[in-house]
Amino acid sequence: MPSDTEPPEDRAAIEALFDEVRTIPPSDEFKKRALITDTSLYDEANQDWQGFWARQALALDWYDEWDTILEWKLPFAQWFVGGTLNVSHNCLDRHVANGLADRVAYHWEGEPGDTRTITYGELLNEVQKFANVLKGLGVERGDRVNIYLPMIPELPVAMLACARIGAPHSVVFGGFSAEALRDRILDAQAKVLITADGGWRRGSAVPLKVNADNAVAEAPTIEHVVVVRRTEADVPMQDGRDQWWHDLMADAFPRCEPERMDAEDLLYLLYTSGTTAKPKGIMHTTGGYLTQVAFTHKYVFDLHADTDVYWCAADIGWVTGHSYIVYGPLANGATSVMYEGTPDFPDKDRWWSIIERYGVTILYCAPTGIRTFMKWGTQYPEAHDMSSLRVLGSVGEPINPEAWMWYWEHIGGGRCPVVDTWWQTETGAIMISPLPGATTLKPGSATFPLPGIAAEVVDEKGNKVELGGGYLTLTRPWPSMLRGIYGDPERYRETYWSRFEDRYFAGDGAKLDDGGYFWLLGRVDDVMNISGHRVSTTEVESALVDHPSVAEAAVVGTKDETTGQAIIAFVTLKGGQEPSDERGEELRKHVTAKIGAIARPKTVIFTDDLPKTRSGKIMRRLLRDVADGRDLGDTTTLADPAVVEEIKRRATVSPTEE
Ligand code: PRX
Repeated sequence: MPSDTEPPEDRAAIEALFDEVRTIPPSDEFKKRALITDTSLYDEANQDWQGFWARQALALDWYDEWDTILEWKLPFAQWFVGGTLNVSHNCLDRHVANGLADRVAYHWEGEPGDTRTITYGELLNEVQKFANVLKGLGVERGDRVNIYLPMIPELPVAMLACARIGAPHSVVFGGFSAEALRDRILDAQAKVLITADGGWRRGSAVPLKVNADNAVAEAPTIEHVVVVRRTEADVPMQDGRDQWWHDLMADAFPRCEPERMDAEDLLYLLYTSGTTAKPKGIMHTTGGYLTQVAFTHKYVFDLHADTDVYWCAADIGWVTGHSYIVYGPLANGATSVMYEGTPDFPDKDRWWSIIERYGVTILYCAPTGIRTFMKWGTQYPEAHDMSSLRVLGSVGEPINPEAWMWYWEHIGGGRCPVVDTWWQTETGAIMISPLPGATTLKPGSATFPLPGIAAEVVDEKGNKVELGGGYLTLTRPWPSMLRGIYGDPERYRETYWSRFEDRYFAGDGAKLDDGGYFWLLGRVDDVMNISGHRVSTTEVESALVDHPSVAEAAVVGTKDETTGQAIIAFVTLKGGQEPSDERGEELRKHVTAKIGAIARPKTVIFTDDLPKTRSGKIMRRLLRDVADGRDLGDTTTLADPAVVEEIKRRATVSPTEE
């Protein structure tokens, strides 16, 4: 249970629109071809939810079918017990065996404009070769492999090769720092690291190998580093430890039998921020995970794999990319677009030119992106023919109704259902979302739990709320649920299952309207959501106090028009240290070096004191109010006595957080 849980705040925009919410039923045109146009899937799942999931699991290829659908010893679930399968076989071999070797798996586009088209047949070849490379480096079933790559085709190849030989991967987002990478390698005790000389981002080369070297210098479990050549940057290669991807692949044997994995074998670890300074290694296993990502990818996006061109514009370093760039789409034999760089390179219409070029039919992205495009203006999408689009998705943070409507009108041409999909790293797959041919949409609402999923809103005491706001909980296990936190079962129980009896608590506030629609209200714990990415307040605070000048720090997420939330750091310096703009900048850089650019505070506010309860707990809510009520500049560091006064005044007026 997070220590600083507060009642959920309502979103004013939703509140205001609540009485006059527009509803958008699926159009007849869309329904003509839609996979699901009625409540049949919900009805089926309501009858027998375990049987429902078992039928979805049968869409995969199994070596041995399971004996038991679900073994549930709260909070530990096992799905499809006794079943065996291989994820890379399901994503590749079976499609090739079905005559789809020439179907495009990825239309890949690098930021500089270079392109690669990779068919299922080619992907299978690459994956088999790289699986043999890993074996040659001594990787065995059960060994962990760390991956720190840009958005290049070698990233899914490496993941699938790991899955093929039964070596769980741990992908670390390329925007994380050397220290963050080191900590994740150490926690996973990985043997091999796969990285690149660099990656392209907004026209510059990101120095991944430099970070990797710094991380590995302090991570002795790593025996080998495989380096992909991408930017051609001159990087040092350590003899005996570092090898080029292309050299290893040139000699690799082209056939590698997939391992028969148990349904509950670990597929991957993915680290995510919690309410403490230490990221959690979220564990996802094989059979249940693949079942639910394949099911949701097919039905939420109404996938017609033979004709659709699907683009999830997230980074594979986050769970969205794992589930909806790699495993879901490939399990379904879909054709995807994969793009390496930023949306504004070389110009602000890059995404729309990609949609036009490849005839993208399904686009999945985050509200922060949409709000950024709103700011840039409609002239960019208007310059491109995007009539191929037919479904739009949103993920990662609450989407405000205004952004939803803009997306609907200016990207979807008023013709494409917008599916707002709520889920988490921990849930592995989409949990609450419309089915586009069946659900009447309300802009800003993720609508209903998917078939087979049971979600409820509860009050402070854990009583079910039928109407109004409260805490979002899940009341039944689901196939792609996390199986725990790597190496820390107690933290797993404590974090997710202790706040409300017999319920998984997601950390989010939610509200139910009189039609039973779910409206997500954001995090109610010490986790911030910056551009759809989770950042822990405590982790940023630890990074700040690690700086020699800092005595104490408190970090809050404040509302931000574009990124959803922005990080504001209140900092008390040690005696003899003077606040200054330069010092603020130094601290922001320090956090970037410790964690990564996503965790860099937007503003640093120096104060003499931090407001605390009598028991010494920092009153973050008060700081959040102070931050929300002020116009905080982008890089400005305010050594502003008025702020301090305000904090002091309010601390004495309402010392309520005891
Ligand atoms: O607060 C919720 C928000 O993102 C959190 C999960 O973050 P992460 O594990 O990084 O996964 C992001 C991609 C699945 C949730 O606890 N969130 C995610 N999707 C939505 C959302 N909030 C509102 N609406 C959503 N559609």
